Parts: sequence; structure tokens; C-alpha cells
Amino acid sequence: MNIILRPWKISDLDRLVKLADNPKIAANLMDRFPHPYTKEAGENFINMAMSGRPASVLAITLDGEVVGGIGVHPQIDVYRKNAELGYWLAEEYWGKGIITEAIKLIVPYAFDNFDINRIYARPFGGNIASQKVLEKNGFHLEAHLMGTFFKNGQFLDELIYAMRQ
Ligand SMILES: CC(C)(COP(=O)(O)OP(=O)(O)OC[C@H]1O[C@@H](n2cnc3c(N)ncnc32)[C@H](O)[C@@H]1OP(=O)(O)O)[C@@H](O)C(=O)NCCC(=O)NCCS
Repeated sequence: MNIILRPWKISDLDRLVKLADNPKIAANLMDRFPHPYTKEAGENFINMAMSGRPASVLAITLDGEVVGGIGVHPQIDVYRKNAELGYWLAEEYWGKGIITEAIKLIVPYAFDNFDINRIYARPFGGNIASQKVLEKNGFHLEAHLMGTFFKNGQFLDELIYAMRQ
């Protein structure tokens, strides 16, 4: 599998909107990843991603084609040594190990490029696939918060997985 992480480009817009416009993806992410996923949302996202120096939000490509996105978000104030990891993959590519590989690539990139010592992710309690990709990359469950998320009309548990340098 030839998986490469690279910066987003404006020319990715149509492909991004096509892949991201999926309620099954949005259902597992923060509400700022909208459904329907409009062209305007895609433009705003790509412009935000392109503004990072160095880029912290990257496109995942498989054999040269965009298949999803992954990002590390350095935090501020007393959380400034932490970065939050987020990712999504187009549904037709699920279950092939692509995100497992993408996390493997972004972790060293994040520790090399940002002044952080901890990377964490907060999957929803029911998102077993996401928990597995984190565990397979050496992330540990640090906390299980009960019903802190309110998503699509339901309270969901918040799992905090982290890895330290
Ligand atoms: C979660 C997501 C990122 C996983 O990406 P992926 O490339 O399909 O994941 P991988 O193929 O690398 O690994 C998935 C693992 O979970 C397992 N899995 C998937 N669904 C499962 C389920 N319902 N129960 C148990 N295991 C499951 C797979 O078998 C695999 O484990 P294995 O390698 O030990 O067999 C992808 O499904 C996605 O984009 N979902 C929507 C957005 C999202 O959830 N983002 C993360 C928010 S925290």
C-alpha cells in the first residue's frame, strides 16, 4: 500500500467534497465536520489546512489519490504540550489498514515539528474501529468519560487515548 500524507491543495476540493459528504463519517466526528458536506465547507477547510506552518492538517493519499484526512492540532495555554489527533477515511476504503498506517506516519511528524510531548485522540465510545487503530499504534486509554458528547441527539461516552514521546 502506497500511503503518503501531503498538504491539502485547492485542486483537491471536488474530491474532498465527494468523499466527505457521508453521514457515516460525520456521525463519528465533531459537528464542525458537517453533513451535508458542502463545497463552501470544503473550501474553508482546505484554506485552513493550507495556512498551517508547518502544515498540521494533511491529506491521506493512496497511490496518489486523496482518500481521507488526518491532522494534529497543537493546543494552547496549559495544554500547549499536547496535540489532538483527528482523522477520517472515505467509506469505500475502510477496513484495509489505511488509517493504522496514516497514524504511524503522522506521530513522528507531529513530535518532530511541534513542541509537544503528548498526542491524544477522543473517539466516541461506540467507535470501535477508531479505538483499534489507536491501540494498534501504541496509544493507551487514559480516561473514559461518561456521556460528555452530545451528537445527533444522543449522549455518548468520550474515550481519551494518548501516547507520549
Ligand atoms: C475509524 C476509521 C478512521 C478507521 O479507519 P480504517 O482505515 O478503516 O481502519 P483500519 O483498517 O486501519 O483498522 C480498523 C480496525 O478496526 C476493526 N474494526 C472495524 N470495525 C469494527 C467493529 N465494529 N468492531 C470491532 N472491530 C472493528 C478492523 O477489523 C480493524 O482491526 P484489525 O486490523 O485488527 O482487523 C474509519 O472507519 C473512519 O473514517 N470512520 C469515520 C470517521 C471516524 O470515525 N474518525 C475517527 C474519529 S475519532
